[in-house]
Amino acid sequence: MILRTEGVEKRFGGLVAVKDVSISVNEGEIFGIIGPNGAGKTTFLNCISGYYSPEKGRVFFWDRDVTGYPSYKMCGLGMSRTFQIVRGFPKMTAFDNVKVGATFGSGKYHNVNDRVKELLDFVEFPLSPDITAENFNTIQLKRLELARALATGCKLLLLDEVAAGLTPGELPDFIALIKRIRDSGVTIICIEHVMKFILGCCDRIAVLVFGAKIADGTPEEIQNNPQVVEAYLGETNVH
Ligand SMILES: Nc1ncnc2c1ncn2[C@@H]1O[C@H](COP(=O)(O)OP(=O)(O)OP(=O)(O)O)[C@@H](O)[C@H]1O
Ligand SMILES: [Mg+2]
Repeated sequence: MILRTEGVEKRFGGLVAVKDVSISVNEGEIFGIIGPNGAGKTTFLNCISGYYSPEKGRVFFWDRDVTGYPSYKMCGLGMSRTFQIVRGFPKMTAFDNVKVGATFGSGKYHNVNDRVKELLDFVEFPLSPDITAENFNTIQLKRLELARALATGCKLLLLDEVAAGLTPGELPDFIALIKRIRDSGVTIICIEHVMKFILGCCDRIAVLVFGAKIADGTPEEIQNNPQVVEAYLGETNVH
């Protein structure tokens, strides 16, 4: 098991944003987290990545208790992430954006520049590596952000709504890329609203509602769970 949480809780004042959430993620899985807006998905991911320290509960990364570790330490141990709102460094080139990941992560590269080029190819970044990120559209920024996260040498990648904002035509290639990342030896936890992505990609899924986990299981189990259908899937465009 690469990641395990036990009873994680995070409050904002009187609001319990994440309530007693326990998940277990196996190495090599694509593990989805779904739920309505405001369900606590991003906050939960932030508790895993070290952006927040949970007020209750534990986070184990490869059996090591990493609860409360800051993000840079998590990154050094082999965990990386992307953001719900894509965050490139706008004034830096595509090449340098990715190189930042290689500089701060856990990867030990013989030749960093070669690795950056390899990763830009791997994510099928379509433009010259010398163009600055301010010129990129959403899908280009998403590919760039994935390359930057991978440049850290991570073994666990946390994705927050990575498919949001993509056109239906862009989705299949992107799903293939996420699977290629997993096949390269990186376990993935992804928050997602796009059901085509969730059902096409995920091995297992956890469902959060009002901060609490109401179910987890295979995509099929989740789709057929009446509680999940009532709380979430009923109101979601599954096409
Ligand atoms: N920094 C914060 N301060 C106060 N409240 C917050 C903060 N971050 C999140 N919240 C609240 O915590 C709850 C969970 O928010 P969160 O962003 O984790 O939900 P989410 O499931 O990611 O939603 P979405 O699908 O819209 O991204 C919401 O009620 C939100 O308003
Ligand atoms: Mg969110």
